[in-house]
Order: sequence, then C-alpha cells, then structure tokens
Amino acid sequence: MKTYLVTGGAGFIGSSFIIYMLNKYSDIRIINLDKLTYAGNLENLKGIDSNPNYTFIQGDICNKELVEELFKKYDIDYIVNFAAESHVDRSIREPEVFVNTNVLGTITLLNTAKKFWETERGFKEEKKYIQISTDEVYGSLGQTGFFGETTPINPHSPYSASKASADLIVKAYFDTYKMPINITRCSNNYGPYQFPEKLIPLLINNCLNYKELPVYGDGLNIRDWLYVEDHCKAIDLVINKGKMGQVYNIGGHNEKTNIEIVNIIIKYLNENVDEKITKSLIKYVEDRKGHDRRYAINTNKIKNELGWYPETNFEVGIKNTIEWYLDNPKWMYNVTSGEYQNYYKNMYENK
Ligand code: NAD
Ligand code: TYD
Repeated sequence: MKTYLVTGGAGFIGSSFIIYMLNKYSDIRIINLDKLTYAGNLENLKGIDSNPNYTFIQGDICNKELVEELFKKYDIDYIVNFAAESHVDRSIREPEVFVNTNVLGTITLLNTAKKFWETERGFKEEKKYIQISTDEVYGSLGQTGFFGETTPINPHSPYSASKASADLIVKAYFDTYKMPINITRCSNNYGPYQFPEKLIPLLINNCLNYKELPVYGDGLNIRDWLYVEDHCKAIDLVINKGKMGQVYNIGGHNEKTNIEIVNIIIKYLNENVDEKITKSLIKYVEDRKGHDRRYAINTNKIKNELGWYPETNFEVGIKNTIEWYLDNPKWMYNVTSGEYQNYYKNMYENK
C-alpha cells in the first residue's frame, strides 16, 4: 500500500486530486497536510473524510518538526506538493507570505524527504517528490508560440517568481543529490470548488449577486483553460510513469481572452437563470501590474511519453462548472463570508 503525503489538499486542485485518487485506487493511503488558510476548506472533501485510507492533518509545510513527525509516523512514498499561496493579485499586495510558503515550505518538504529517503547507496526505490508548479514560471507569450518544457524561466509576478524559485530548488535536489522528483507545470485550472478570487468563480458569483464584473485592462489577455479533473489525471500519470527528474507541461488547448470568458458566463446565466444578468455588469478597471499577456502550452511531451491529453472540451467544462456553483450556494456563502468580504472590498470596489 503506497502512502501519499498530499499538501494543500483542502484547496481547489488538491481536494479534487485526493477525491480522484481515492475513488480510483482502493490500495493507497493519503495523508492531507493543509494549513487551512482562507483558501483551504474541508467542505471540499466531504464524502471522503470517513474513508479509512484518508487522514487530515492541519499544519504548515514550513513546520519542519511537524513534517518530520509525519515521516516518522507514516512510511511516506510520495509527496505531492500543492500547498501554496496561489493568487497573483494577493502576491502583488503581500509578496512575503508567497516566499514563505511557496519557497521555504518547498525546501522544508524536500529536506525532510531527503533525510528519510536517502541511504548510503542512494535514494530508496519507488519514492518520489512531485512539485505542482505553473506555466506562469515561463513568463508571458506574444500573439504566437507556446511554452515548452525547455522554455527559459522568466517569471514576472511575485507569485510566479516564488513558484519558479521553488522549481529551481526542486531541480537542484535532482541534479545534486539525485533525489527522485518530477515537476508539473499546468495552465489555468477551472472547475468546482475554486475559490472565488480567481476569474471564473468570481464572475459567476458576481453575476449571481448583480455585482460589477471587473475586467482588467482591455480584457484581451489570454489564458489556456484546463479542466481540473483532466489535470488530476495527468498528475496521476506523472507520479506513476513520469521519468525521474523531468518536467511535464499540462495544458487545456483552450485559449480564450478574458472578455470571451466573461461573455460566455453572462450568456449562460442570462439564458438559464435571470435575463437581468447582462453585459451591463461589465466594468473595465485598471490593469493588473505586470499583467502577463498570454499563456499557452505545448503538451507534446506528456502526450507522447505518458499518453495524456485534455479530455474535457471547454463548452462541457464551463457548463459543469457554472452548474456546480448554481447547485452549491451554501459553499459559496461559507467561503465568501468573513475575511473575504473585506479583502474583496479593498481589492475591487476601490478601483
Ligand atoms: P488554492 O489556493 O485553492 O489552495 C491552496 C491550499 O494550500 C489551501 O488549502 C491552503 O490552505 C493550503 N496552504 C497554503 N499555505 C500553506 C502552508 N504554508 N502549509 C500547508 N498548507 C498551505 O490553490 P490551487 O488553485 O488548488 O493550487 C494548487 C497548486 O497548483 C498551487 O501550488 C498552485 O501554485 C498550482 N497551480 C494552480 C493553478 C490554478 O489555476 N489554480 C494553475 C497552475 C498552478
Ligand atoms: P486569475 O484567475 O487571477 O489567474 P492568473 O492570474 O493566475 O492567470 O486571472 C485570470 C485572468 O483574468 C488574468 O488575465 C487576470 C484576469 N482577471 C480579471 O480581468 N478580473 C478579475 O477580477 C480577475 C480575478 C482576473
């Protein structure tokens, strides 16, 4: 029975990954280490919390003593590190916490894994550290081209710089110590349970409350949207079949401008919920500082080596996503109560 230490498993992608893995495999054990920041929510995991192969531990990946204790208590085979501060706008306002969690947290996990996995004859077999990274480490594209795994790292935001720093440290542990690692770099995820500071759930939530829809700059920045379950399938393949030390890009082949996304969501809600939800809610606001223009991913490597491709087309994925939010108003109410109210006020309503 393999034991996975999944960090950040109460967040958007981590929770989806845990549910996917426990549904797929009955012979694995998952330890979920999550600090439960504003972005972590145990409601995301309802249904599997009674699974005997699942254990939740509230704690910080920067806490060396705690991480060592987990290694002593459980014979950990894989670390899948999702834990991070993940929102670019927050990183522009408060970069320090991004360096703490994303960089120092990563090195704490690496050091502990090295301590428990390394022997005099090298690393124990069938152990692996998987770093969940982002295409944002590559910087920004112009109108053409795609990010490949060998595209030079050139991050712009404090968020992407912290993720790039972590990637370089993970790579250094492979180059220097031959520690078994993989790094995955995915494009923008969407799907159920995403915290409504990110574009798609923010737009859905605002439409349903007849609030303005803030569009940064000219609305023509492009993101490549990846359905979260497709992402989880890719991570599973990388864990089980990824070649040691390799980076794998994971993209959705769904390039859309932000204003296209806004219009798709308005149209769906206008036709299916309330005809008062219209384009009149759109408000063009000051651009994000250092706003990357375009992200797009070349997925040839993961396709050719591991046989992965994104299965969910955008029309199906966005419909599932909008309908999930329509069916789960209580979840939205719970995560947007309290601290988020003040944050939102500062962030958008002053623009
Ligand atoms: P999220 O913000 O929804 O969740 C992050 C989780 O990490 C939360 O549960 C939070 O409580 C936990 N966490 C934060 N700091 C912690 C700490 N110090 N110790 C332990 N737990 C901590 O993020 P997400 O969207 O699920 O992203 C997961 C990973 O995927 C991140 O590493 C992110 O950089 C990467 N990623 C996300 C996207 C995306 O579109 N969401 C795209 C590319 C890469
Ligand atoms: P976001 O979901 O924050 O993801 P990322 O910055 O990591 O790509 O933003 C996606 C795109 O949407 C990005 O170009 C910024 C833009 N955006 C808006 O125009 N308005 C908003 O309110 C938000 C949150 C994002």
